[in-house]
Amino acid sequence: MCVAEADPILNQPQIYDPYEYALHDDPYPVYRRLRDEFPLYYNRKHDFYAVSRYADCMTVLRNFKTFINGKSTTLEKEVIPGSLPFILSMDPPDHTRLRHLMVNQFRPHNVAPLEEVVRETARKLLAPHAGTGRIDIIADFAAKLPMAIICALMGVDPADEDMLRGWTDDIVHREDGSNEIVEVNITGTRNLLGYFEEMIQGRLARGEVGEDIVGQLIAFEQQGKLNHAEVLGYLYLLAIAGNETTTKLIGNFTYQLWENRHERDRLIGDPSLAAGAVEETLRIDGPTQMQGRETAEPFELHGHTIPAGSKVAVILTSGNRDERHYDDPETYRMDRGSRDHLGFGGGLHSCLGAALARLEGRIALEEMLATMPDWDIDLASTRRMHSAYVRGYTHLPLTFTPRSAA
Ligand code: HEM
Repeated sequence: MCVAEADPILNQPQIYDPYEYALHDDPYPVYRRLRDEFPLYYNRKHDFYAVSRYADCMTVLRNFKTFINGKSTTLEKEVIPGSLPFILSMDPPDHTRLRHLMVNQFRPHNVAPLEEVVRETARKLLAPHAGTGRIDIIADFAAKLPMAIICALMGVDPADEDMLRGWTDDIVHREDGSNEIVEVNITGTRNLLGYFEEMIQGRLARGEVGEDIVGQLIAFEQQGKLNHAEVLGYLYLLAIAGNETTTKLIGNFTYQLWENRHERDRLIGDPSLAAGAVEETLRIDGPTQMQGRETAEPFELHGHTIPAGSKVAVILTSGNRDERHYDDPETYRMDRGSRDHLGFGGGLHSCLGAALARLEGRIALEEMLATMPDWDIDLASTRRMHSAYVRGYTHLPLTFTPRSAA
């Protein structure tokens, strides 16, 4: 349903369009205006509402009966043709069933044993660049590390990692100012799902299901706990979620610690602060900027009624900079010690892979500090990803004192 015609909210100036590439460079001044002037905002072009204050984001995230995930958590009216149901696009009771099957696997104590493999992978990726004094920290490192780890957990052949990453990038791509599903999204989805289907059928034909994530999901299907579409949907989401956001987290802390050099100097003196730096990056410049919901019933907020059937954007990184919730929110302080940020969402759907992302982020930072502590950014050569949901770099070239000469 479209917005109620008498609603004064229709006359708001159109200051926030998450599909516009220009916003992606620096969305934070726009978020501040939303929080201060339009705490309930309506975008006419794409027909969605937006909340931007910490407390309102929490209200929406926690109120899962009114703000449902429905068919998807994007603002697009259509889902990508051929895509399958996955945990993020489900509501209870199906969401509860799917989440319980995998939640234990991703708990901190079950993720902690991966420390060695993550560190070894990080070192292997950084080593060829250590003596050169140059690296594109995204293309050469941050894009590869999380994909290598999630692929290892799923049992994907390491030779296929780049191909899978290409497809997941295709799936999240949007054209400037448009929320239309484009051909590349559909082929990316088709390729990724086709790959997993072949993998499953190959294992079934060999009679070797395996004990990795793919093996566990096949076993859940055999036990009647998941249907086949849900197995594929789970793999689809893990490949996307386990990849893109962690890559962007590494790029974003590389930038933040370069901009806030006194904080990086403190880290060089005491690398045990790395976990705090990861946490503060998730708060101040988290990769997941915004997630969508749909209203199952009308909801009153700031004197307006959001009609049933409306799309609602929850601007997580705006909530994270809300001065109504945080002291001095625009300042990067890695010893802030607060883990209540919205970088991993909140409520029922809060990030399943948060412990893994934190582990990967911390180890990536520790290894960067060991290899290239004085990194400098070649700002003119950086390139950003263009997505309404995820903020970060696709290219972030660094120079640093080569290790042999350091
Ligand atoms: C820095 C890295 C990451 C960030 C910033 C991030 C962020 C998020 C956010 C904000 C949500 C909630 C979305 C919503 O409520 O609509 C979410 C959900 C989810 N994330 Fe992550 N994520 C990261 C890494 C990962 C990793 C490494 C994995 C898996 C290996 C993962 C798997 C998931 C899954 C499965 C969900 C859906 C949970 C559910 O619907 O119950 N994420 N993530």
